[in-house]
Amino acid sequence: MKLFRSIVELQNELFEVRKQGKTVGLVPTMGALHGGHASLVKRSVAENGVTVVSVFLNPTQFNDKNDLDRYPRTLDADCELLESCGADYVFAPSVSEMYPQEDRRTFSYPSVMSVMEGAHRPGHFNGVCQVVSRLFYIVRPDNAYFGEKDWQQIAVIKAMVADLGLNVHIVECPTIREADGLAKSSRNTLLKDDERAIAPKIYEALTASKKYAEDHNVSQTHDWVVEQINAVDGLEVEYFSIVDGNTLQDVTDWNESPYIVGCITVYCGATPIRLIDHITYKK
Ligand code: PAF
Repeated sequence: MKLFRSIVELQNELFEVRKQGKTVGLVPTMGALHGGHASLVKRSVAENGVTVVSVFLNPTQFNDKNDLDRYPRTLDADCELLESCGADYVFAPSVSEMYPQEDRRTFSYPSVMSVMEGAHRPGHFNGVCQVVSRLFYIVRPDNAYFGEKDWQQIAVIKAMVADLGLNVHIVECPTIREADGLAKSSRNTLLKDDERAIAPKIYEALTASKKYAEDHNVSQTHDWVVEQINAVDGLEVEYFSIVDGNTLQDVTDWNESPYIVGCITVYCGATPIRLIDHITYKK
């Protein structure tokens, strides 16, 4: 496995790779890697000639500076994990390498960008589009791998790929969970023991709500989930949206769409740490 800090050096290497007719898989990450990332990398390794993993803590997608400051930075451990997963290249550029000048581009896909995370983290998805489009221009991957934990992010990236006419296949990969159901996330390492102990209640409520939904309407199910989670001391729901899994628009009736997903963000503990998760009601 080779580590690149420079765009040009990575591109020279990939030029040779493509001459050999190999496909290129890209797994974009912000580091602090865990089993969820490992599953994306392993899938890319299985499906491509070479796999590039970018490790770049992208400042433009953080609307909260404290969140950026406390985000874990673990490049050495990340490289060990990536090597064990069979990654070929790690691309870990500096901020000035990625953004030699301020990125002033704005991306506007209101239907998927303005709801849920978009409504609560202004500018977040614009930053995601800035960095992911740059990574796509640099690496020119055939396939790019994203986890479904960030459900909305996948919809936004697909809208961007269609808008920019990029020739990359977006591969959606299932959420990987801890044994107690908590969705794996880099932010989980920031949870104190008592916070870590209550965090699985989020997925517990989501899974229980599938049964509840069998004989309750969308609005009742929504309120029930929020009540269950808010009843846990130390958890507070920021939003819970029951939406069409593709368009991300709210549904009001279970018969309104063949594909219905609940997306939730919960504040956990005193800091607090923001945890996101989702549940599929219909597919
Ligand atoms: O999902 C993430 O970790 C980030 O949003 C991404 C896609 C790597 C862009 O910085």
